[in-house]
Amino acid sequence: MLCGGSLSTVAALHLDAGELMNILVTGGAGFIGSNLLRHVVRARPGDRFVNLDRLTYAGNLANLAEIEDAPNYRFVQGDICDGQLLAALFEDEAIGGVIHLAAESHVDRSILGPGEFVRTNVQETLALLEAARAAWARRGTAGRFHHVSTDEVYGSLGDTGLFTEDTPYSPNSPYSASKAASDHLVRAWHHTYGMDTVITNCSNNYGPWQFPEKLIPVMICKARDGEPLPVYGDGGNVRDWLHVQDHCEAIDLAFREGRAGRTYNVGGDNEWRNIDIVHAICDAVDERLGAQPQGPRRRLVTFVGDRPGHDRRYAIDASRMRGELGWTPRYTFERGLRETVGWYLDAGEWLAACMDGSYREYFERNYANKMG
Ligand code: NAD
Ligand code: DAU
Repeated sequence: MLCGGSLSTVAALHLDAGELMNILVTGGAGFIGSNLLRHVVRARPGDRFVNLDRLTYAGNLANLAEIEDAPNYRFVQGDICDGQLLAALFEDEAIGGVIHLAAESHVDRSILGPGEFVRTNVQETLALLEAARAAWARRGTAGRFHHVSTDEVYGSLGDTGLFTEDTPYSPNSPYSASKAASDHLVRAWHHTYGMDTVITNCSNNYGPWQFPEKLIPVMICKARDGEPLPVYGDGGNVRDWLHVQDHCEAIDLAFREGRAGRTYNVGGDNEWRNIDIVHAICDAVDERLGAQPQGPRRRLVTFVGDRPGHDRRYAIDASRMRGELGWTPRYTFERGLRETVGWYLDAGEWLAACMDGSYREYFERNYANKMG
């Protein structure tokens, strides 16, 4: 694995080389979770991965077709707040570690309906922490709890500066406020109960299998179809983009080797203004499909009303992740964006199923019988 570089001796190793584990991954049918599982199920054949996902609109089991029959993988449809189900899973599967990704993740949806974000991201993280604590206390073992979080908890930057792990929390949207609250719970469970926790706060991810509601897949689909490209505000908001595979390698590394109680920022050192990304996508789609008779796709850019409370700039200082854990992102943005545009343009069937809702039938078709 590329990011298995030298480890600082100050970083307490969590897993000895060769030590195997049963790991509960929550939200594994979503964008990042499915990319993570496709990676680790194959890269770590001795470990067992149990994917607990409620299959909200964002959960798509088709993302996991490549690994669904792997002997070290099991899917369970369920809710992270279902105490009985969790107790049984921790017991039956002898879960020794949790990678917690399940969440409501889209800022625009959080503005329209904040309640679901507080329920899922805050109350259900609490339920999961408590289930893990009880199960590990019963077994007399110290499991690891890795909470996957976001750079948005730090708020918005001006033209300069980077978010470090010491930047005070200053969340601005219902989504980021709910993620900040969940981070605080995880921190408190380490401090108060001695739980072995790690938190990673990552910047914007892009890559294959992302539900077409976030900036990059939305723009690729609309550019493909010659539709207006809705850029919020003046298009000058800046995000630090990281390929999802690089994030997944960071998660795997921090889960195994991160220090207990520690937070790690993860980012691509790759800041882009939204308008420049949209232009780059237009050019890449023109290159693949040819320009339209009416002209290049950049002409489709349409400035629309701004997102309320829209954070201006995010940028991550990932030096702790790099220095302590030896992590390095592999993808250049040029390669990552080109491959991503190509992936979505080739993924017509997958996208069509996302758009018409038929992806939700995958569970019935492929799992219902197997589960009896
Ligand atoms: P996503 O919306 O694509 O997937 C979320 C998954 O969680 C879905 O499969 C959904 O069905 C599942 N889920 C939701 N509520 C659940 C519940 N109560 N019980 C079980 N499963 C439930 O999200 P994503 O983009 O893959 O993000 C994953 C995590 O990473 C989130 O915690 C998010 O805050 C964080 N994160 C995302 C990004 C990004 O750019 N996408 C960046 C940094 C951090
Ligand atoms: O920073 C990490 C976060 O990145 C994650 O925690 C979130 O889960 C993830 O959704 C993402 O949040 P953003 O709000 O930054 O991502 P989104 O893709 O929604 O928007 C990226 C930028 O593009 C943002 O400035 C808003 C803008 N935008 C978005 C959409 C969907 C547009 O201009 N037009 C659009 O249609």
